[in-house]
Amino acid sequence: EKGGYEHFMLKEIFEQPKSIHDTLRGRLLVEEGIIKMAGIWDHLERLNQAQKITIIACGTSWHAGLIGEYLIEEFARIPVEVEYASEFRYRNPIITDKDIVIAISQSGETADTMAAIKMAKEKGAFVYGICNVVDSSISRVTDAGSYTHAGPEIGVASTKAFTSQLTVLSLIALKLGKHNGHLSNQEFMKLITELDALPKKVEEVLESTHENVKEIAKHFIGAQNFLYLGRGYNFPAALEGALKLKEISYIHAEGYPAAEMKHGPIALIDENMPIVIIAPKQGHYDKIVSNVQEIKARKGRVVALVNKGDTQVASVADFVIEFPETSECFSPIIASIPLQLLAYYIAVYRGANVDQPRNLAKSVTVE
Ligand code: F6R
Repeated sequence: EKGGYEHFMLKEIFEQPKSIHDTLRGRLLVEEGIIKMAGIWDHLERLNQAQKITIIACGTSWHAGLIGEYLIEEFARIPVEVEYASEFRYRNPIITDKDIVIAISQSGETADTMAAIKMAKEKGAFVYGICNVVDSSISRVTDAGSYTHAGPEIGVASTKAFTSQLTVLSLIALKLGKHNGHLSNQEFMKLITELDALPKKVEEVLESTHENVKEIAKHFIGAQNFLYLGRGYNFPAALEGALKLKEISYIHAEGYPAAEMKHGPIALIDENMPIVIIAPKQGHYDKIVSNVQEIKARKGRVVALVNKGDTQVASVADFVIEFPETSECFSPIIASIPLQLLAYYIAVYRGANVDQPRNLAKSVTVE
């Protein structure tokens, strides 16, 4: 059932061209120039009149939510907040019947997310679910929703469900923006064409980075800490990269917005602190270049994720992983893939059980 792969996690990483394609299938109709999503279309007015959208989730799904915030605010211009379900449910948040809550959950069974949804509903909010497991508890209790259609995810560390969550959030943001007039038709067409190209690019990045990442991973088997840095859309991708590493390899890792480095974490940087930095061409590239220089000046070992053909970051980094260019807003989908592979191989070389990491369960049905 592992389809020839050593672990479910690796199989699921390699399934992503297909899972993203399945998420888009029947929804993204590039030739007609439309995004078809019944859950959004049927409630368009309510969604577009929202005073604010609050995204609630846990773990990896919460990271997807952070990227969802960037997407929805950029393209639909609706204010978005992202909260851990466990915090939201215990802090008496301001939620009324003018609010929209988006709950994201792969399993659709997470106890804190479920309880947060119930509370939001009691306060009158309209709750939209993004779940992977069909007919799961969360998908049944929400007012409307979209499935991610990534297929069953067996590995405890979430991989393909995450990229499918990002894909659904992209579809939602673009559809809302198109219908509320914040996104020009030209811009919309450009973005959906890019979205349509993602499965191909994900395939490309898997092929072009797999062997390279496998080699790079060997250099970090003994690491005790890691920093992951990114800016803008790739800041949450850095958080997710760090989470992947810690949960399966048991190496301590932290994600940070690259610019926050100088507000604390820079004190940690020396030759024993490897740093993974996501540095695509768009999204304040120059600033990232200076971040990398600051790290190198302190002897940190840098693994840089850059676009194909990059020279500036690539020439100072110790290890370079190249990934294909896409619109900035979709770059976390591509950049996450070598980060999943990096976490996977470091964990495998350390002899860890990547599919069943210690102390973790696939769905967290107790709080
Ligand atoms: C990380 C991971 C967890 C889950 C979290 C939420 O790889 O798997 O952090 O993302 O427990 O689970 P769902 O999405 O099922 O609500």
